[in-house]
Amino acid sequence: AGFLTYDPGFMSTASCHSSITFIDGEQGILLYRGYPIEQLSAKASFLEVAYLLLYGELPNEKALAEFEQVIMRHTMLNENLKNFLNGFHYDAHPMAILIGVVGSLSAFYHDSLSINNVRHREISAHRLIAKVPTIAAAAYKHSIGEPIIYPRNDLRYCANFLHMMFATPCEEYRPSLLAERALNLLFILHADHEQNASTSTVRLAASSGANPFACIAAGIASLWGPAHGGANEAVIAMLTEIGEVKHIPKYIAKAKDKDDPFRLMGFGHRVYKNYDPRAKILREVCHQVLNELADANNPLFELAMRLEEIALSDDYFIERRLYPNVDFYSGIIYQALGIPRNMFTVMFAVARTVGWVAHWLEMMGDPDNRIGRPRQIYRGPGKRDYLPIWQR
Ligand code: CMC
Repeated sequence: AGFLTYDPGFMSTASCHSSITFIDGEQGILLYRGYPIEQLSAKASFLEVAYLLLYGELPNEKALAEFEQVIMRHTMLNENLKNFLNGFHYDAHPMAILIGVVGSLSAFYHDSLSINNVRHREISAHRLIAKVPTIAAAAYKHSIGEPIIYPRNDLRYCANFLHMMFATPCEEYRPSLLAERALNLLFILHADHEQNASTSTVRLAASSGANPFACIAAGIASLWGPAHGGANEAVIAMLTEIGEVKHIPKYIAKAKDKDDPFRLMGFGHRVYKNYDPRAKILREVCHQVLNELADANNPLFELAMRLEEIALSDDYFIERRLYPNVDFYSGIIYQALGIPRNMFTVMFAVARTVGWVAHWLEMMGDPDNRIGRPRQIYRGPGKRDYLPIWQR
């Protein structure tokens, strides 16, 4: 293939320059615009981090208040979008609904077509950050047959999301400070992670000049897979299936067996080879949340910690440097907050929308941007002549 480099999975290909997120996989370091994830997740609000990812600097009080107002102003959905939601079967997976409905936003906002206009790009970015949570909660409401709950713009971003998930027309829902804080932290940890599969998908889709809502829908589709964002749902399914500590060795053996497709979900990472810093934070927070909910003996958490301990003392996992990743403990926290399992990946998508949008904005302003067009190494037959069907 001459000049071509064969790099399946893009193990060693840098597809762009970026100033948003830095990862050092050997040291377990994750920085958003230079700020350590440990500091941001402990101290910042999700919209503060969103501002940082979008604009490059932390906002001062005035800038943050203005940004919060702009985002909250866009939280409503066009009433016609309800028709899309209602078209889905009652047991549709909320991720399937999210892909469809976010994509359909491209049919509502024609100004998003003028992607060469910087102001229009910014409005599309704000709309996405504001509307994806509303669609996500509506997808959940649809799946349980309850009416959609409208956003409340007097609430903070995470409190409003919990309100849209759990209020009903008959009953107000006041999220506990604990739930709001936990969600804020989970959203910050999931907000960006440089050129992962879904972000690269958004960039590739956008490289052709496609509509931003359609590009984000493509990112959501990529996130859904169990090797990516779908892992948080798969972890809880796996822990439930393992059931008891005494069954762990059987599952470890299955994960090591190369003839068995089973993998330990929530384990391993393309970049982190020395513990995922997000998993470290979540393990600690999981402890705190369960304690505060008086659920300290949560059986899934006990099982997860034992599984981690057993796997990390096993040569197979040591040699391959496989550690728990962000998805290993997040599902347990979501579950403790009352969020159903089929919504876990949707929660990831809500948070990651900020990262996708930040990358889209960065890319649109990058003079090096050109259509993404990988090459291939052809392995098929050489030139041959067509035979009429009766001669084959
Ligand atoms: N359980 C058992 N073996 C594993 C696992 C696992 N979870 N992950 C990797 N391995 C083995 C793999 O079989 C291979 O072994 P060998 O060298 O003997 O063939 C070796 O480790 C390297 O794995 P790989 O598949 O080449 O690594 P990758 O960088 O292509 O894949 C991964 C990374 C995250 C897709 C993979 O570790 C995996 O499938 N993990 C489980 C799913 C998961 O938790 N995904 C969430 C990722 S983090 C958050 C996110 O991105 O959404």
